[in-house]
Amino acid sequence: MTDGWLKDQVAIVTGAGAGIGRAVTERFVHEGARVVAQDRDAHRLNELKATLGDRCAIAPGDASDPEVIRRSVDMTLNEFGRLDTVVGNVGVFDWHKRVVRMKADEIRSAAQEIFSTNITSHLLLANAAYEALKAAGGSLVLTCSVASFRGGGGGALYTASKFAVRGLVYQLAHEWAPDIRVNGVAPGGTKTSLSGLSALGTQDRALDDDDAVIAAIGAATPLGFAAEPKDHASAYVLLASKSAARAMTGSIIVSDGGLICKV
Ligand SMILES: NC(=O)c1ccc[n+]([C@@H]2O[C@H](COP(=O)([O-])OP(=O)(O)OC[C@H]3O[C@@H](n4cnc5c(N)ncnc54)[C@H](O)[C@@H]3O)[C@@H](O)[C@H]2O)c1
Repeated sequence: MTDGWLKDQVAIVTGAGAGIGRAVTERFVHEGARVVAQDRDAHRLNELKATLGDRCAIAPGDASDPEVIRRSVDMTLNEFGRLDTVVGNVGVFDWHKRVVRMKADEIRSAAQEIFSTNITSHLLLANAAYEALKAAGGSLVLTCSVASFRGGGGGALYTASKFAVRGLVYQLAHEWAPDIRVNGVAPGGTKTSLSGLSALGTQDRALDDDDAVIAAIGAATPLGFAAEPKDHASAYVLLASKSAARAMTGSIIVSDGGLICKV
């Protein structure tokens, strides 16, 4: 890909402070877009802003809070005047915790926490951004996962939440055509700080804390390595491009090193 695929476009990326969202934000700016970076970690956002300068604005807060999302969309329109692409990317992980190893009250609180971040945040974003995306003939891109297609990519909570993200891609693609395209990217195991759930006491456990986890991902992946966040960024650029992806809606680009091919 050459530079400038997203020239003059404006985007919002949630979960932009680290990992895949950060790589997408940096790449969008490199491709000519201006981006509002949304994350609950203000420190990470300030760092990102210091790197990207005035082509990036930041919107700190919890993406499952309707006020935070509404403010992020309003801020985008005030600062940059339009909104072409929204990337719903926030996500947390259940660290493969089995349902039978949780107490009933843990299931309730963990399910609420993971669905709030992995699904409710995207619903709120879709709702808040709809009019602006429609006006711009824009698109929504959601971060799915290999766990949106098969078991074993997480525990039941994570897998159910990521199947739901895939459902959201198909349903909104159907509801919003022909005005707004809706697509997804499904990464496989990637070296990021993907973290766990407060309800399960794993909120401070990050995927890239543990070299053995990264090595196990590489060993399980047909291409033989755990991806870097930037390995997925081109897929988001393609889907956000109004010309290159003009005919794409309801599509999910799988970027998983071949995991999905395994039985
Ligand atoms: N890392 C992987 O192996 C992998 C594989 C497939 C899919 N994914 C998906 O990629 C997406 C990005 O995750 P990542 O791996 O880059 O993790 P990450 O933790 O490196 O980045 C996620 C960012 O989201 C932020 N965040 C989390 N919950 C939030 C909330 N409620 N409100 C606002 N910000 C919040 C975090 O602060 C963090 O900066 C997630 O949807 C995840 O499920 C990751």
